[in-house]
Amino acid sequence: MADLSIVVDGMKFQNPFMLASGPPGTNARVICKSFALGWGGIVCKTISLDSNLVHNTVPRYAKLKSRIHNEIIGFQNIELISDRPFEVWLDELAECKQKHPDKILVASIMEECHKDRWIEITERTQETGVDALELNLSCPHGMPERKMGGAMGQNPDIIEEVVGWVKSVSTIPVWSKMTPNVTDPKVGALAAVKAGSDGVSAINTILAITGIDIETLRPVPTVEGYSEPGGYSAQAVRPIALRHVMEIARACPDASISGMGGIETAEDAIQFMLVGSHTTQICTGAMLQGYGMIEGLCQGLSKWMDRKGFKSVSDIVGLSLPYFTTHADLVERQRRAKREKAGQSNRDNMWKGDISKETDTLVSD
Ligand SMILES: Cc1cc2nc3c(=O)[nH]c(=O)nc-3n(C[C@H](O)[C@H](O)[C@H](O)COP(=O)(O)O)c2cc1C
Repeated sequence: MADLSIVVDGMKFQNPFMLASGPPGTNARVICKSFALGWGGIVCKTISLDSNLVHNTVPRYAKLKSRIHNEIIGFQNIELISDRPFEVWLDELAECKQKHPDKILVASIMEECHKDRWIEITERTQETGVDALELNLSCPHGMPERKMGGAMGQNPDIIEEVVGWVKSVSTIPVWSKMTPNVTDPKVGALAAVKAGSDGVSAINTILAITGIDIETLRPVPTVEGYSEPGGYSAQAVRPIALRHVMEIARACPDASISGMGGIETAEDAIQFMLVGSHTTQICTGAMLQGYGMIEGLCQGLSKWMDRKGFKSVSDIVGLSLPYFTTHADLVERQRRAKREKAGQSNRDNMWKGDISKETDTLVSD
């Protein structure tokens, strides 16, 4: 049976499946439960120094369903980062690590663009014993109004500065979580890596409007009659996420990559590994299917690896990257293939001609 473990930035994951930052990792109870069920790693819900500044709304989710089967294909949220006190989180992160020392716990952190605050949150969080930090430079709604999250991740100079502050005091690996709400995903990732980020996580949610209720004329999710564009996730975003991960993996070959966006099955996750992800993260999929989905993910990956003859997860990472090229190269390859085929069929025709000549001769004889 294939070995599902992988070592990334010195951390040994028992399998490459992680719960992504969001509702699935919202407190110690659910984090410990998920570790016990078999998740290889968990990124906790994003935390900040002052949770009093975080005000969530109800409702904050909207769904896009398939016209035929009513299946949820897209999911929008206007949820902010954790509104639970930082001190409570510090205790809970330490508790999770004590109970599950063999599992990988990553703390997602976010702060305003002040050096002192980033240094304080880095130092205090890593003291809990977490294995790594994921810098949330990408939350697309709410936080940008405080110049946090996506507002930082859209500016490569700020990314470089913030990652530099964190790396100046961090003693554990640092991953930078990128926003997809940019034109070129490579720019931010390269800035993070230049400043010393050990890994890149991608993607956070895509800014979107899931729909308008045509009876009330109000956008969803509707809060007191109003709404705002929110973060889109689930299977609808997977093709976009794959493209972002592929581009980042090619641009940053020495960084570890944690890929996510619409993963719901082992086959989805395998595709992210093939375009360069060392680990994969799942948020909406776990919200829709429940934490128990980890069993199917491990079984699916294991079966696929056995069928394809792969012995270790690290052997899969990036295997499909060489098959991406430019359009001009595709045209050239097609031209060459056609020429070869034409050459082949000319040869075939000549050969057929020879046969018929021979046959003609035989008949006329
Ligand atoms: C309800 C909800 C809350 C989220 N909260 C956070 C968060 O606090 N920090 C963060 O970095 N990403 C957050 N995310 C983004 C996810 O971690 C992930 O990047 C994104 O949803 C794409 O993956 P998915 O399609 O598997 O959900 C949230 C996503 C959802 C759906």
